[in-house]
Amino acid sequence: MATKEYKTVLVEKEDGITWVIFNRPEKRNAMSPQLHFDMYDAVTDAEGDPETQVMVITGAGSSWCAGMDLKEFFREGDKNPEFQRKVGWASQEWRWRKLFTFPKPTIAMVNGFCFGGAFTPMIACDFAIAAEDALFGLSEVNWGILPGGLVSRVVTDMMTLRDGLYHAMTGDPFDGKKAAEMRLVNFAVPADQLRAETIALAKKLMEKNPSALRATKQAYKLVRNMDYSQAEDYLAAKGAQIKMQDRESGYDEGIKQFIDDKTYKPGLGPMARVNKVS
Ligand code: ACO
Repeated sequence: MATKEYKTVLVEKEDGITWVIFNRPEKRNAMSPQLHFDMYDAVTDAEGDPETQVMVITGAGSSWCAGMDLKEFFREGDKNPEFQRKVGWASQEWRWRKLFTFPKPTIAMVNGFCFGGAFTPMIACDFAIAAEDALFGLSEVNWGILPGGLVSRVVTDMMTLRDGLYHAMTGDPFDGKKAAEMRLVNFAVPADQLRAETIALAKKLMEKNPSALRATKQAYKLVRNMDYSQAEDYLAAKGAQIKMQDRESGYDEGIKQFIDDKTYKPGLGPMARVNKVS
């Protein structure tokens, strides 16, 4: 399928991976209104696209994303509240709701600056891999606002209260290595290995049964806010849903390959996707 063209976002597809690339390098990929509309469209398209098995979000040039555009979103947006509301809606939709529940695995490949409002999509992705020299910061306090939108809320999901509050209140930036130490990202690697490590993770995910993977991610994210009886009931229903909807019949196939064929050990790696659908 031909990829759409956007003013501020590039979409590239290769071997099951869809690369969605913030593309305003001259502005360090700050999120302008146009970028929010473009991202909303690009993420929505990838949701239902059979070619997209894993989506990676990264940035062109030296930056992942320098946060909200202070000029176009804040200064100019403040003069046009109706438009700012529309942009705000699109921005929350793609940065949180769509990304958090995206039906396939998502990886934030943080190649450079990641500031302020960029924390939301970075945290919404299932995985984050950073270049060791990437630079993160909750910089809002440095210019007189608080980490708004959903930033303060989602940061508390990912950082300890000590670490999150420290960085929200001091605005001190930290590098990719420190982000990995604080478990804000899965791991950090030298910049020249970032793409290869991201592809390796994407390939590992593509070996799994997609229905099981999708249900696992949805369930793992959602049960955190349920009490135990709700979680128990929901997980039972979700398990039944996989069996009904899985076009690869992973449940039966997985048991067969282990018990009858003895071709793999579930404890050590994935079964072969012999009925591969996409
Ligand atoms: N909003 C608008 N423009 C931006 C932003 C931004 N968030 N970040 C960078 N730019 C623009 C600069 O104004 C500059 O534009 P110009 O060439 O027209 O003057 C261009 O991008 C390059 O920026 P420099 O500052 O020259 O680049 P440098 O590599 O030296 O520094 C850095 C990069 C550290 C990211 C710096 O630009 C910066 O601090 N940006 C703001 C980061 C930030 O605090 N973001 C959070 C915003 S709050 C929120 O998201 C809710």
